[in-house]
Amino acid sequence: MRVAKRIEKLPPYLFVEISRKIAEKRARGEEVISFAIGDPDIPTPPHIIERLCQAAHDPANHRYPETSGLTELRQAIAEWYEKRFGVALDPEREVQPLIGSKEGIGHIALCFIDPGDAALVPDPGYPVYSIGTMFAGGESYFMPLTAENDFLPDLNSIPPRVANQAKVLWLNYPNNPTGAVAGLDFFEKAVNFARKHDLVICHDAPYTEVAFDGYRPLSLLQAPGAREVGVEFHSFSKSYNMTGWRIGMAMGNALMIDALMRVKSNLDSGIPQAIQYAAIEALCGSQDCIGEHNAIYQRRRDRLLEVLEKIGLRAKRPLASLYIWAKIPEGYTSVEFTTRLLDEVGVAVTPGTGYGRYGEGYIRLSLTIPDDQLEKGVARLAAWRPS
Ligand SMILES: Cc1ncc(COP(=O)(O)O)c(C=O)c1O
Repeated sequence: MRVAKRIEKLPPYLFVEISRKIAEKRARGEEVISFAIGDPDIPTPPHIIERLCQAAHDPANHRYPETSGLTELRQAIAEWYEKRFGVALDPEREVQPLIGSKEGIGHIALCFIDPGDAALVPDPGYPVYSIGTMFAGGESYFMPLTAENDFLPDLNSIPPRVANQAKVLWLNYPNNPTGAVAGLDFFEKAVNFARKHDLVICHDAPYTEVAFDGYRPLSLLQAPGAREVGVEFHSFSKSYNMTGWRIGMAMGNALMIDALMRVKSNLDSGIPQAIQYAAIEALCGSQDCIGEHNAIYQRRRDRLLEVLEKIGLRAKRPLASLYIWAKIPEGYTSVEFTTRLLDEVGVAVTPGTGYGRYGEGYIRLSLTIPDDQLEKGVARLAAWRPS
């Protein structure tokens, strides 16, 4: 049997590799403390689960859903966007529910990338932007995110030939893996750049609700003209601890939303309706859980930063996202450093190069680890000295 070349070209999915290594150690009876995966450890809030259970009992929700999602869900998303960002969306034309934002991020490449086209993709970055581009037959032009530029791409340094040939500009703020945030001035620059080079912007924004120290992350759609050139991907996963339920959304330019809907309606049959009702409850019910979760993450962030500093790893205090992006000492690659940490103290982190070559020299630590595990990890790190 011969698989298609696009499958052969795939790098192993980063977390699968890490999970395999951790599983091997655990099978040998070793306790591994994992800061490696960004999957909230806190359960979905009870009022959301209640609504899901109720809806699951209703036979109307046992049948095929529509790809376009429930009208009530699209309306709830539009109302939430207006309340949260002051952006008024047309729920019929500018909102598309997704089976988790990853699904939409992967599929949108099929809407805008023809074989031979290019996408501008941040490096380090969430791997699905470039993999989706490759599946559609396109090439990624990687935009370095460096500490010198506050982990924002330097759009002016992209050669005009590349920018003119590209079709899509991928952005992600608050950023995974760097924890960086973007201001309105950056989004405005990106919109002008997209207009100038006839690009569409895909802004991946699942972390806007995970923020600290009173900071409120922005939406791309708050930038004037953004809706003419872009869509924003959002998710219930991190805001409401709903990673396992698989539900997200895309909002913005009506033509882009329509193209995504057309691809999706040919490939999937929508989101189970009971989960859509749970998502409506998440958006329309009490938002107290967001502040409560953020207080927990903020405390974990500060605890981890303290110990990282002690062992000589420098990291900027992130204002949002679930991640600390820490610079490792000279003399190691990030994979070597990650392997040493795992082998010597049983602490798992993600090597920066898992997100692209500009991730070299960094590791990522996730704040989605239960407090008792965090304390164990902190104790192990505090007692360790990288030579
Ligand atoms: C930057 C980024 N985008 C998208 C996703 C996917 O989220 P979802 O659970 O909505 O598919 C993740 C998940 O970790 C992420 O980090």
